[in-house]
Amino acid sequence: MKTVASLDDLRSQLSELRAGGKTVAFVPTMGNLHEGHMRLIARAREEADVVVASIFINPTQFGENEDLSGYPRTLEDDKKRLIAEGCHLLFTPNRDIMYPEPDLTRVEVKKITTLHCGASRPGHFVGVATIVLKFFNQVQPDVAIFGLKDFQQFTVLKTMVENLFLPIRMIGVDTGRADDGLAHSSRNNYLTADEREIAPRLYQILQQTKAAIESDEASFASLTRKAKEALHEAGFTPDYFNISRRLDLEPATEEDRELVILAAAFLGKARLIDNIQINR
Ligand code: PAF
Repeated sequence: MKTVASLDDLRSQLSELRAGGKTVAFVPTMGNLHEGHMRLIARAREEADVVVASIFINPTQFGENEDLSGYPRTLEDDKKRLIAEGCHLLFTPNRDIMYPEPDLTRVEVKKITTLHCGASRPGHFVGVATIVLKFFNQVQPDVAIFGLKDFQQFTVLKTMVENLFLPIRMIGVDTGRADDGLAHSSRNNYLTADEREIAPRLYQILQQTKAAIESDEASFASLTRKAKEALHEAGFTPDYFNISRRLDLEPATEEDRELVILAAAFLGKARLIDNIQINR
């Protein structure tokens, strides 16, 4: 695997790798890679001839009270993992490359970005859409791979790709989980040993709510209330727990068929997010 940090080097490596019409799959990341990311790289290898990953801790997607400077930087370990998984090219630009002055342009996907994580983290998805569009323009991949743990992020980015006619196939990969159900996430590193024991309750509560919806047990409002109470009892501080329509992530009614339950909850210092899909 080659690692490049400048745009010129990225372009020259990409043109070599693309020789003979080879296709490119792209996996953008913020580093601190874990098994969940490795599933994305493995899928990228299935979808295209060449796998390109990026590591860039994107400042514009962090809120004022969020710890950008404390975000784990583990480049050497990340490289080892990427090499072991068969990644061909790693792009590690710095802030000046990604946000050259005058830095006056932002990308905004409307509506979906005001809900769920967008409501708790204003401006977050503008930062995400902006950086991902910049990467798409630099790498020009055939396929882009994202984890479905960030279901709302994937929906926002898919909408951006469709609205802007970008010739990129968007693939969402199912969430990788530990044996006890906890979704793989960089945030899990913030959990103490006791919190790590509690953390799988988030997915269990999603599964219980899914089962209750499938057997028409109660109204969505009362299931949501019960789920939040269960999170509290387990030791979480729920941020949101929303039963939504999968298409546009708006609140679902009992008549809707394709659903996703989206949840975020604080456990100590960690803000965990997860979701579960339902077809009725
Ligand atoms: O999911 C992430 O790690 C980030 O939001 C992304 C897509 C790499 C953009 O910075």
